[in-house]
Amino acid sequence: MRAVPTEAIPLPPPRHVAIIMDGNGRWAKTRGLPRVAGHQRGADAVRSTVIACRELGIAYLTLYAFSSENWKRPPAEVDDLMGLLRLYLRRELAELHRNGVRVKVIGERQRLAGDITALIEEAEGRTHANLGLTLVIALNYGSHDEIVAACKRIAERVEAGGLSAAQVDETLFAGHLQTVGIPDPDLVIRTSGEQRLSNFLLWQAAYAELCFIDTLWPDFSKQHLVDAIHEFHRRERRFGASSG
Ligand code: FPP
Repeated sequence: MRAVPTEAIPLPPPRHVAIIMDGNGRWAKTRGLPRVAGHQRGADAVRSTVIACRELGIAYLTLYAFSSENWKRPPAEVDDLMGLLRLYLRRELAELHRNGVRVKVIGERQRLAGDITALIEEAEGRTHANLGLTLVIALNYGSHDEIVAACKRIAERVEAGGLSAAQVDETLFAGHLQTVGIPDPDLVIRTSGEQRLSNFLLWQAAYAELCFIDTLWPDFSKQHLVDAIHEFHRRERRFGASSG
């Protein structure tokens, strides 16, 4: 990607940017540090990215903080990640709220510790009327689980007789996903050079521009975001229509 100076942003920002934050472990490894050090620096990058999104006028930022597959990691690493999320929600809530950020968490909550669920509810409750950036944190999130759960709820409604199969369309289906009310992402960024979606927003990202960058997540800066936005505007989005 070509680097563009931050000041030279002539183009409107995408409405919704979603990020797969990858590379914390490699960032730590190359420095001879424990993986948790990479996650800690990753949490710092979360903080600066939220500020950057506010400055750039992005309306929605979704961050993939913990996937439903991340439970397969060693228990100590899972604890470290949960600890960082706890810390983030505790320490940042007041400032997020002061800055008009609306916090929303998607993902399956049942498996999360009770105090984390309580922090999520507090964050969502306190910020729900804010009109600035909507920060969506995907926590114990996986698209397959989300889609299956939506299918089950729709099937139950059909079984109960309140809905006919003929009424099931894209809009109704999307209304049963956890992202209901959130516009689909326009731009999905994945750091660290990996090029896959890893069960992230599979339905919602159907027409998103995908931007894969080599930078490891702890090194992600506002400049990387600006570069990705310029790349986004260089691509022609046709949503399945033909060009010209
Ligand atoms: C991927 O790096 C990153 C994660 C699985 C977790 C992301 C978590 C954070 C950035 C910190 C806390 C989040 C918030 C919202 C405060 P990896 O460990 O898979 O890296 P690797 O592929 O290099 O091993």
